[in-house]
Amino acid sequence: MSSPAGGSVFADRVLNDWLNSVGLGIEYSRAEANTLYFVDEDGEEVPVLDHVCGFGSLIFGHHHPDITAHAKAALDQQIPVYVPLSRQSHANDIAAVLNAILRREIPGGDGDYAAIFANSGAEAVEICVKHAELERRARIAKLTEEIGRNAQEAREAVAAGRATVAENPYIQLGREGGETERLEQLLAEAGRRNADLIAKGPVHLALENAFHGKLVASVQLTQNPHWRLPFTSLASSTRFLRADRPEAMKAAVEELRTSLLDVLVDDGVVTVVERDFPVIGAFFVEPVQGANGMRPLTEAAAREIRAVCDAVGCPLIVDEIHSGMGRTGAFFAGSHMGLRGDYYTLAKSIGGGIAKNAVALFHRDRFRPEFEVMHSSTFAKDGFSASIALKVLEMLEADDGRAYRVAAERGDRLKEVLTTVASDFPDVVDAVHGIGLMLALEFKDQTRAASEPLREKAASGMLGYCVAGLVLREHRIRVLPVGPAGNSVRFEPSIYLTDADIARTENALRDVCTILRAQDGDRLTP
Ligand code: F0G
Repeated sequence: MSSPAGGSVFADRVLNDWLNSVGLGIEYSRAEANTLYFVDEDGEEVPVLDHVCGFGSLIFGHHHPDITAHAKAALDQQIPVYVPLSRQSHANDIAAVLNAILRREIPGGDGDYAAIFANSGAEAVEICVKHAELERRARIAKLTEEIGRNAQEAREAVAAGRATVAENPYIQLGREGGETERLEQLLAEAGRRNADLIAKGPVHLALENAFHGKLVASVQLTQNPHWRLPFTSLASSTRFLRADRPEAMKAAVEELRTSLLDVLVDDGVVTVVERDFPVIGAFFVEPVQGANGMRPLTEAAAREIRAVCDAVGCPLIVDEIHSGMGRTGAFFAGSHMGLRGDYYTLAKSIGGGIAKNAVALFHRDRFRPEFEVMHSSTFAKDGFSASIALKVLEMLEADDGRAYRVAAERGDRLKEVLTTVASDFPDVVDAVHGIGLMLALEFKDQTRAASEPLREKAASGMLGYCVAGLVLREHRIRVLPVGPAGNSVRFEPSIYLTDADIARTENALRDVCTILRAQDGDRLTP
């Protein structure tokens, strides 16, 4: 929207100009279920089918009447909303439901996870980064204690003439001085090298094309270079691994391997040995990679990721911010591929479309109780969003999980139609990805298109936005591009998607495919 006549624009100046340029600069005035409304020049309310649904945060659509009624009642009852540092049993009520679901859905899971609440998805991810670092620091402290004890034993053995200091491949020792001097020289140099390593931050593991948020630490787990690279100096680095090459994961992790130096007295000789250093902080995984164009993890990848974490000893953090809360036909998308996490994150739909809420869950075996006070926020765990979360969970679990079955059925129906479009237009559509109501249609690359405007839009990464603009302008359907090249269109509506909505969607996509096939670049530009 433009500013009031003559007024200065202080917010979204660049963003709004850009939205206008691709035909997405519409201000919506009302929202209900899967429909957004705007008012046109004639004062008429125009409905728009919303396939974006708050980036997948509306499993029950915009303003579900039961959620709205629940919210109104909560406000009428004057429930305490912000009362930090008091007993807030709603936090435990939510965690109890989540643990029961984990117990039901996750194979080998015992459903014993401690909950820490947050305000956004990215904050929940950062909470996990912090907790994983606490765990890592505890492991390092144990290791350095042992190394300190071994150094002391070596000192005593050398002082008593029971041991001599051997040459070693790590640290070259001077020829001068006695055994005690040589040992002190060795310990000082080993200590310096160890201290350098210990002072460094962890390396995190994530999958290529991952999206885990845009805060200081979480943006380093989000591969998109435009968002990540300007801020690499602010946080720990990430090694991105290929989800489609699980067999290569162990080797990639092996490359990161590094050791602390320790000394042992063996048969009257002080020798230097390497001790594996816990350099890896955690492995972050989306069971369905949303920003990567709705790519579900394979079972083989899930198995290998679990094996890597077990071998390294780092927590496996399953980011269900996008895929969780029932969207894929199960509460946890990871349950489809048997992925068991040490930590979980949830956000988006837990807010019921009207509140901001997020939670990180930590397996009890790993949870450090002091963390309950080490991370907090004025707004987190508030009574209002907690009350909404409990309502959403109740709605999801009602009728023996009817909502999950509907999500799966509606998703299958939509996917079927997308697949038919893909097979009718193999020249312009690459593939359909996703599961449940987390789907994407991937168009073929158009950077070598015959049409110049198409080529140009594709080269600048704008083609997907122009497709979204056209679908909005001509079909009154809101979609957005997704995927590293922006070549896919994302579909993540609520469970109330109707057959008529699906038919309209098919019609719009066939139109887009026909335009691409005909290389009618002019029609794609507003
Ligand atoms: N993790 C995942 C898997 C996400 O999809 C997102 C957000 C976040 C973390 C960050 O959550 O926005 O509440 O801070 N995904 C949005 C998307 C932006 O495009 O689907 P946030």
